[in-house]
Amino acid sequence: MNPQDKQNGKTPDPNNTGAPAKSPLPAKLQSEADLNTEQFSDRYLFAMLAQFIRPYWRELALVFAMLIGVTGLSLLPPYLVQRAVDGPITNGDMGGLWPYGMVYFVSILMLFGLRFGHTYLLQNVGQKALVNLRQALFEHILKQDMRFFNTTSVGQIVSRLSNDIEALTELLSTSIVIVASNMVTVIGIVGVMFVINWRLALLGLAVMPIMSVATIYFRRKIRDQSNRFHKVVAEYLTFINEQLNGMLVVQLFGRQDVSRTEFDTINRQYRDVHMNIRDQYTVYSSILQMLTTIGLALVLYGGGQGVLAGWATLGMLISFIQYSRRSFDPILALSEQFAQIQQALSAGERIARMLRVESKILPPESPATIEHFRGAIRLDHVKLSYEPGMLVLRDVSIDIMAGQRVAIVGATGAGKTSLAGLLARFYDVNEGRVLIDGVDIRQLSIADLRRYVTVVPQSPYCFNGTIADNLRLFDETITLEQMVTSARAACAARFIERLPQGYDYPLLPGGSNLSQGQRQLLALARALIHSPNSILVLDEATSNVDTETEEMIQEGLQEVLRNRTSLIIAHRLSTVREADRILVMQRGKVVEDGMHDDLLKLDGVYAQLYRRQFAQMGMAEAESKGERLEM
Ligand SMILES: Nc1ncnc2c1ncn2[C@@H]1O[C@H](COP(=O)(O)OP(=O)(O)O)[C@@H](O)[C@H]1O
Ligand SMILES: [Mg+2]
Repeated sequence: MNPQDKQNGKTPDPNNTGAPAKSPLPAKLQSEADLNTEQFSDRYLFAMLAQFIRPYWRELALVFAMLIGVTGLSLLPPYLVQRAVDGPITNGDMGGLWPYGMVYFVSILMLFGLRFGHTYLLQNVGQKALVNLRQALFEHILKQDMRFFNTTSVGQIVSRLSNDIEALTELLSTSIVIVASNMVTVIGIVGVMFVINWRLALLGLAVMPIMSVATIYFRRKIRDQSNRFHKVVAEYLTFINEQLNGMLVVQLFGRQDVSRTEFDTINRQYRDVHMNIRDQYTVYSSILQMLTTIGLALVLYGGGQGVLAGWATLGMLISFIQYSRRSFDPILALSEQFAQIQQALSAGERIARMLRVESKILPPESPATIEHFRGAIRLDHVKLSYEPGMLVLRDVSIDIMAGQRVAIVGATGAGKTSLAGLLARFYDVNEGRVLIDGVDIRQLSIADLRRYVTVVPQSPYCFNGTIADNLRLFDETITLEQMVTSARAACAARFIERLPQGYDYPLLPGGSNLSQGQRQLLALARALIHSPNSILVLDEATSNVDTETEEMIQEGLQEVLRNRTSLIIAHRLSTVREADRILVMQRGKVVEDGMHDDLLKLDGVYAQLYRRQFAQMGMAEAESKGERLEM
């Protein structure tokens, strides 16, 4: 029945519906966003983020000024204690303690104010920057070509726009404050310690090198694990998305058990990777805890010796215990942020990778214009392949005059939809040219091309909204009258007017409260509204509509299509009989070209197809005599 079907051609096994066993292609086609495996340096990632933060540099400058204030103030209390111990307390002068107490109290109040201020400001900046990043990412995705959407799973894109952005939110609004303020604090404390007593300072910081080594080691481990984690998350989302979209198939074939097992596997993987990150992190922070305790012990021991030997005072010892504790606090806090930051950076890496993917459908640098659009189409030795080495259109040359009404027929897989996609530049030719009114469509701006060519796909999408929203595509300038006129021509008016709220009838997501055929009628009406003069390509656009309605559409279209170039891809030959010209496609080639009667006389592929369908139709008509379908 389908000589074009490659798989059936090669494998006689009728159960084999998948790809041929020895396919040159990987089992799962890779998205370009995955193939793009380049590693980004942290510096590159921060530069990318900086691009989104830059507009808010004034707020950021203020945040950093506040941070330095906070650090300065937080260094004060231990110093005050030292002065109080070595001064009034040692001398037994209780009245002399007052000023120290007052300064202490005021500095703590100011600390509170500054901390609140910088956290609040930075949160704001972070959120604003993320709004921009999210917008940029979404707009970038909108610009991608069909190849990208064919190979990139929805789960992957959703995960980029949700989890990954979320991870960055943490980074920008919390982690950065913590990291920056702690870094500044550590530097400040180390400085102050050296100024007060360098020997004690060296003792307190003796454990620092070991800490650094541990940090570098665990940084890499945690980063690797978080990369894995996000891969698993994307798989998880992709799986759920596929299952939900394919729920009908899952339930029809009773595949729930398989789905459950598969989900279980992914679910466990999810947990394992997550736990692994936790484990790494726990080991890391335990090591740090231990090192801080050792550091403190060193200060106590050495400081005690120092007080006895006379190179340190008691006040210094007390303040040093506080300072070295405080110098470890930021390091511990940094380590707390560590996993978070590594995850955010690996999320940033994935976002950067997606932002690097460029559409292959490039708009021309200096677009050509068609002075007087008439709608002549020429395909000049066109070759197209989706995958290297597998030609889907093999050297197709067609000349269609302006205003011609052309029908395209051929078996499933012959390349009809691919041809339609070429005209709208969903894909670009591998070789040859596609011309409209003599202009290569790659020279036209995408916006112009969309005005010149309208494709009505076989399974059109309906958005969540009313029928009118879907006809207008949310363009409020389109009047009800325009909608009704187009809906009449497309035979959609009848069913719409019978709905409870007519044009205001709300559609469920994907239009699931309409029949397939009704969705097709709606899509046809939509195309008629939005492109009154363009070349119209109907890709089996009425294949799910009953014969009677299809005939009425043909009639309705007579008026609309007068003087308009149209390509009608159809399965039912009854609808192509009236065409000015019929193209018959077979295995990526146009094998016959002519009018109905001529092609019948030719007695080739078309004649065969026609006789087969005619025989079936004749039988069906005989069976259902008197039984008329009503829409
Ligand atoms: N997005 C795609 N990626 C890879 N191969 C594709 C894609 N779309 C179609 N094909 C292949 O191209 C061939 C022609 O498909 P198509 O143009 O849809 O045929 P038709 O519309 O005539 O049924 C088929 O063999 C199909 O496997
Ligand atoms: Mg098709």
